[in-house]
Amino acid sequence: MNPQLKTYIPSATIRNKVKILADRISNDYKDKDLLLIGILNGSFVFLADLIREIQIPIQVDTIAATSYGNGTVSSGKVEITKKLSIDPQGKNIILVEDIIETGNTLQAITEYLQTLEVQSVQICSLLVKRKEGSKTMAADYIGFEIEDRFVVGYGLDYAGSYRNLPYIAELKFI
Ligand code: IMP
Ligand code: MG
Repeated sequence: MNPQLKTYIPSATIRNKVKILADRISNDYKDKDLLLIGILNGSFVFLADLIREIQIPIQVDTIAATSYGNGTVSSGKVEITKKLSIDPQGKNIILVEDIIETGNTLQAITEYLQTLEVQSVQICSLLVKRKEGSKTMAADYIGFEIEDRFVVGYGLDYAGSYRNLPYIAELKFI
């Protein structure tokens, strides 16, 4: 089986959307202390672009959780593998994610943050995958809703590869 890449969201379209999300966040949090937490590894490209478009003072940290093996199907199990460096107690948090599929990863991280007594948690995801017949976790800031396809690039990987693509591509095995 040969992997084939097909452009799905071009980089200029991503750039425009990142600006729109950053403007909304800047406006919604203009009088609040905001801590953005990127979920590693997939969100690091999105996080880097998003924070540079935000026009209010913020703090940035990262957390890592694993729910995937090397395949394209979610295992349903989530484990926190990298904790925060900044104490999030009492802070307003936006979790920054690359893509929501089942929402298991975000659910587990949200529950973990609540044990640390945070003030509030909102979710910003570049992509949300809509699957027929299954409920997808709600997010407060969504870049693009996509169909049930496996996508790579702009931080998203398949078995560790393709993260460096500057656009989002559909990965097809033919
Ligand atoms: P969830 O916990 O089922 O919502 O899975 C979300 C995580 O699965 C994301 O953070 C990604 O790391 C990974 N993932 C889900 N769909 C894709 C995809 O189409 N391409 C690459 N990674 C994906
Ligand atoms: Mg991820």
